[in-house]
Amino acid sequence: MKGEKCPKPRIYRIRFAVRLVQLFATVNRHIFCEMANWKEKENKMSKISIRDVTYENIEDLCSVCIPPDKRNDPKFIAGIEEKREWAIEMLRLWDAFAKLAYEESAVVGFIQYEPVLKEGVVRIHCIYVPEEEHWRKGIARQLVSGLLEEMKKPKAWFNNQPVLALVTKTFPGEKPGQYPAHSFFIKEGFKQAGEDPDLLYYPLKEGFVYQPLEEKEVEYIPQEEDKGKGLIIYGPSFCPFAYAFLKMTEQAIKEIAPGIPIRWIDKSKEPEEVKKRGYFEGCVVNAKPIMSFTDLRTRDRTRTCKKGRKPHN
Ligand SMILES: CC(C)(COP(=O)(O)OP(=O)(O)OC[C@H]1O[C@@H](n2cnc3c(N)ncnc32)[C@H](O)[C@@H]1OP(=O)(O)O)[C@@H](O)C(=O)NCCC(=O)NCCS
Repeated sequence: MKGEKCPKPRIYRIRFAVRLVQLFATVNRHIFCEMANWKEKENKMSKISIRDVTYENIEDLCSVCIPPDKRNDPKFIAGIEEKREWAIEMLRLWDAFAKLAYEESAVVGFIQYEPVLKEGVVRIHCIYVPEEEHWRKGIARQLVSGLLEEMKKPKAWFNNQPVLALVTKTFPGEKPGQYPAHSFFIKEGFKQAGEDPDLLYYPLKEGFVYQPLEEKEVEYIPQEEDKGKGLIIYGPSFCPFAYAFLKMTEQAIKEIAPGIPIRWIDKSKEPEEVKKRGYFEGCVVNAKPIMSFTDLRTRDRTRTCKKGRKPHN
């Protein structure tokens, strides 16, 4: 109507103001939630301390990944012993080779690593945060950060030259529902090296691109005395599960070939026996290498059952 003021613009202004208030409240709520989450995470992280493995806490490293209900199982007791032997040798060789994460006095995670002298890189063998109650608290990230910090310092291993990269070959060791190591490393900025999707690296020197060296596979040298027998060649190992998997393989051999004699060769006690078989480690039946449960679990796509575990250095 002529001369009468239209009420619509006023309504629009009121609606606009209400929307603005709502939007402001939503943004505030989001910021508040983010801050609360961040604060909670920071609180959890502040309880975590990262310590190097020494002779004093070596036992924590050897048993951290064994579930408490399996610690009295003879297979795992033997596995822990194998790992202890490996860890003592690593300390003797390198001084530093693993870090443990503690929540107060309880050990909750670890990272294990080793320099690869001919490549100038440090290889991460394993990272693990075993219990669900500790997942996603930033423990693994703190372990990797601790390692990165350490690697920035000059290392006698490489004649005080800087470390070129951290390298890792991941394998599916996660429990059901647990986050895989491969995804974790990718999220933390590791990149694929070469053609192998499991081989990842994190450059520490600007512009460095890791090209893995061609690794010579270990091949079993057949022995006449191994015919008609099962053979398990084992020794100190960075994984306390390795021994249990070999025991499972022994069981499988017994089921397939009942009555077959099975000989265990400990490479630290019978080095000559291992040498004459080409330093092969793993399972042999009737003088032919077979896949063990360890091989199946690590799903090493580059290894065939004819070949043994690769030496690290
Ligand atoms: C991978 C693993 C080490 C992560 O440990 P964690 O302490 O829980 O990891 P963090 O809390 O440090 O997480 C770091 C980042 O990884 C990613 N991440 C970790 N867990 C995740 C999950 N469940 N979902 C999505 N992203 C996840 C996130 O990007 C996270 O950063 P953010 O929380 O800031 O988003 C742990 O889950 C594990 O032990 N998995 C099995 C590994 C394995 O098989 N090892 C070999 C066995 S010997």
